[in-house]
Amino acid sequence: MSRHGKVSVIGSGFYGTTTAQRLAEYDIFDTVVLTDILDGKPQGVALDINQSRSIEGFETEVVGATTLPDGSGYEAIADSDIVIITAGLPRKPGMTRMDLLEVNAGIVGGVAKNVAKYAPNAVILVVSNPLDEMTALAQKASGFPKDRVIGQAGVLDTARFTNFVAEATGAATADVRTLTLGSHGETMVPVPSVSTVNGKKIVDVLGAEKVAELVDRTRNGGAEIVKLLKTGSAYYAPSAAVARMAKAVHEDSGAVFPVCAWVDGEFGISGVYLGVEAKLGKGGIKQVVETPLDAEELENLKVAAEAVRAKQADVENL
Ligand code: 2OP
Repeated sequence: MSRHGKVSVIGSGFYGTTTAQRLAEYDIFDTVVLTDILDGKPQGVALDINQSRSIEGFETEVVGATTLPDGSGYEAIADSDIVIITAGLPRKPGMTRMDLLEVNAGIVGGVAKNVAKYAPNAVILVVSNPLDEMTALAQKASGFPKDRVIGQAGVLDTARFTNFVAEATGAATADVRTLTLGSHGETMVPVPSVSTVNGKKIVDVLGAEKVAELVDRTRNGGAEIVKLLKTGSAYYAPSAAVARMAKAVHEDSGAVFPVCAWVDGEFGISGVYLGVEAKLGKGGIKQVVETPLDAEELENLKVAAEAVRAKQADVENL
């Protein structure tokens, strides 16, 4: 597929800048716009990435722009096909993602309004935390159809689970398949029933106790890294996850990813943004996939839905 289109990344922290780098290196977009409220940061990073083009062999141009909460500078993202919202504060050690709710709601709500103004046809991919709530908020603030606003969490959580299973079994990550649904938080729902190593169920390979341990480590996968880094949160795996989602939307691939999507009747759950598998393409969510779950996993997904529904309602009242 030839290079075309424009993707914008809002926020030039580590998450935003590594995402911009990955998108540029795919060499499938004409332009990657990188923005920040900090004047000079996105411009400097853009220049740096562009200077790597002749070494890495890609032609996508990265453009840095200063964007302010009053909306100035947002013309840089005009007519983007995809906008990735990374803006907001990351966690500090000991914080839960939910501790960021109020401050990030103000930031993400403001960004989403400007996205609606300047890139009214874009697909929005949200990565700011708390993820499920910020995705719901971005949809509301932008007024976009629900299928055009998607959160990134399941691709990352699943990749973490896969990594832990690969390490525990000695298998190549390519031979491991895992899945996580639910929320990007306490009520994350890892799905061992469809998780396999070389086609064998992980419970049969590792035993129930070890699987429970790995599930727990996956659920706390972000906090483990926050604790090690001491400042900031993870960004290599998170940026890989959202960049792949952007690629699927851009290429209209219909590839199935676990994402935070609007659920409307699937699994007997309605009216909430929740981590489920979905086909991605132009226009965002093509279809939510009803992954076959065992009784306990389905019950856990329903518990997750009610937990995030309550929090998403809190966001509406902020
Ligand atoms: C994480 O889990 C940043 O929420 C993201 O690392």
